[in-house]
Amino acid sequence: MQSETPGEISEAQIAVHWKEEQFIDPPARFIAQANMADQGIYERFSEKNFPECFREYADLLSWDRYWHTTLDSSNPPFWKWFVGGKLNVSYNCVDRNLPKYRNKAAIIWVPEPEEEQDVIVTYQELYNKVNEFAIALSEFAGLKKGDRVTFHLPMIPALPISMLAAARLGIIHNQVFGGFSAKACAERMEDSKSHVLVTCDGYYRNGQLLDKKADADATVEEAEKHGIIVKKVLVWRRLPGKYISKSKMVEGRDHFVDELLDKVRGRKVSPLSMDAEDPLFLMYTSGSTGRPKGCQHRTGGYLAYVAGTSKFVLDIHPEDTYWCYADIGWITGHSYIVYGPLSLGATSVMYEGVPMFPDPGRPWRIAERLGVNIFHTAPTTIRMLRKAGPKEAEKYGYHFKSMTTVGEPIEPEVWKWYYEVIGKGEAVITDTYWQTENGGFLCSTLPAILPMKPGSAGPGVPGIYPVIYDEDGKEVKAGLGKAGNICIRNPWPGIMQTIWGSPERFVRQYYSKYCRDEKSKDWRDWPYFAGDGAVQAFDGYFRILGRIDDVIKVAGHRLGTKELENAALTTEGISEAAAIAQNDEMRGHVPIIYASLKPGYSPSKELEQQVISNIAKELGPIAKPHAVYIVQDLPKTRSGKIMRRVLAAIANSEEYGDVTTLANPDIVETIRKMVQEKSQGSNT
Ligand code: WTA
Repeated sequence: MQSETPGEISEAQIAVHWKEEQFIDPPARFIAQANMADQGIYERFSEKNFPECFREYADLLSWDRYWHTTLDSSNPPFWKWFVGGKLNVSYNCVDRNLPKYRNKAAIIWVPEPEEEQDVIVTYQELYNKVNEFAIALSEFAGLKKGDRVTFHLPMIPALPISMLAAARLGIIHNQVFGGFSAKACAERMEDSKSHVLVTCDGYYRNGQLLDKKADADATVEEAEKHGIIVKKVLVWRRLPGKYISKSKMVEGRDHFVDELLDKVRGRKVSPLSMDAEDPLFLMYTSGSTGRPKGCQHRTGGYLAYVAGTSKFVLDIHPEDTYWCYADIGWITGHSYIVYGPLSLGATSVMYEGVPMFPDPGRPWRIAERLGVNIFHTAPTTIRMLRKAGPKEAEKYGYHFKSMTTVGEPIEPEVWKWYYEVIGKGEAVITDTYWQTENGGFLCSTLPAILPMKPGSAGPGVPGIYPVIYDEDGKEVKAGLGKAGNICIRNPWPGIMQTIWGSPERFVRQYYSKYCRDEKSKDWRDWPYFAGDGAVQAFDGYFRILGRIDDVIKVAGHRLGTKELENAALTTEGISEAAAIAQNDEMRGHVPIIYASLKPGYSPSKELEQQVISNIAKELGPIAKPHAVYIVQDLPKTRSGKIMRRVLAAIANSEEYGDVTTLANPDIVETIRKMVQEKSQGSNT
């Protein structure tokens, strides 16, 4: 949280003390087979070889035309990578794998109902489907290079097929997380000026059939309010020919994709040769202001970066069966379920549902049955599985060589359980720290080269030079036990190009804070500000402490406090709202809302419920607050800023410190008593 009164110490400056964990070495068996066991990689990617070191990643790809300039930094912070180069992402992830891997599984889709059969999509089948859907997007939906198309798809094979089809023709895809509301989807359509929506009929989650097409109807209606006329809705059926939604198809607007594909069966379209700098996709994410921002990712640099990190950090070989249990609707899924693994010719497993369905043994049955040997997931999933089935994994005969964690800090205790019980002590763990904006990993160990340290991500990955700055831009040196703001000193190929439609916001959000000279053309003057607090130990490993801005991570999902507050304010009678993060054993954090009322309204259970349901409607069920406290007034500074830090301390039963300088100090104690009483009430 940023400092809210002058002179106050920000969270990131507070010294952090924790027990140093012991290093754990990777097993010899892992090292023997690793893609990268050569220590020399750190030297090759050291600053003196920057930026040319990144040729090593770009050379993993097939280029139609080789680039002439590795990094053009003449217009900071709008970096250009592999300038002059031409390539196609769909070609790199699909076509070029055909000669060797035509009949090898590219994607194995595991439906949530356990009695249903897996769907195995070979590279040849992927090639056929991607071509057919690309033709549908261009000839039927009228989309061409540079247009935006919105996907609101859950974890079904249609999603990677749609992404690769769009990429084949340079259509910029904008996948909205399947669990987001129709309203959130419509807002993203508006921002990206996208008129075609790709969705599906329905999907299974936690044993329930969810109607996705009904969401699409609401999205179209909502988009219209924002001035976007959705001309076509393309509806994939989860199983071709069998429609599982209750919503009626709208004549002239809605079309079944399987029927469209039937009409173009067997046809092919050449992949369009794209400039390395042409945008590939948008991924909206929450920031410190109300509106989510569209992170715009480029073609060449992005693919080179995810291919390189998939190969050297995740250690993916074409022979591996790799399962990233994340949602493709998030950046992790884009980079490390679809683009990275497929560019390497791997077999990528996709699971439709929740990990505990029908019981906490499910992931391990999938791993055993499919012979998964690389497993990748988020701490929230690991915590959940640990609680529900601490010994469950022991019953199954799978063997992982490597496991990854991503998205939130992982507690050393949980890390150890992951290592010992899930990994059976045989697998290396990479704790990968990065963000939607970054395209790929920032900090992690290279698993065959560096030892693991529970709870610490590791140093910067090759070619990433992180640094910690204090609020004044002074470097916080390693080993001082002091926290600060983690920044990356250099540009890298995976970094987003800009915020879609808001270049000035891009500069302000990520570069203004620590830029040494706005006129400078030297990248060294433009450190990237990540927005996370971190500490660096003597050994160079970074421990990430979490967001310092107004972002809450709930079960690995990124939510903006402003978005939550705006949603709460749509409730009649609510005058002001503050969203804060409460610590949660399972989810890391959960949102809590404090709200004050307009005159003439009084607190009630119904009003609290209304706030909860409005937030679910505006943003989606993942954003539901765990408690709503209706209070007389919110604690404020004399200049009128809401003291979220104090409200967070109360929700977490922590000391809230000196509040005497506030405009309304008495309210703090009143709120504390109320929260205490309520939470005691809910515990009994
Ligand atoms: C947090 C997810 C600790 C961090 C790829 C970051 C982590 C935010 C880690 C980005 C990690 C991500 N350890 N914290 N290994 N990985 N984070 O955009 O706060 O959904 O800023 O990208 O997640 O979340 P996003």
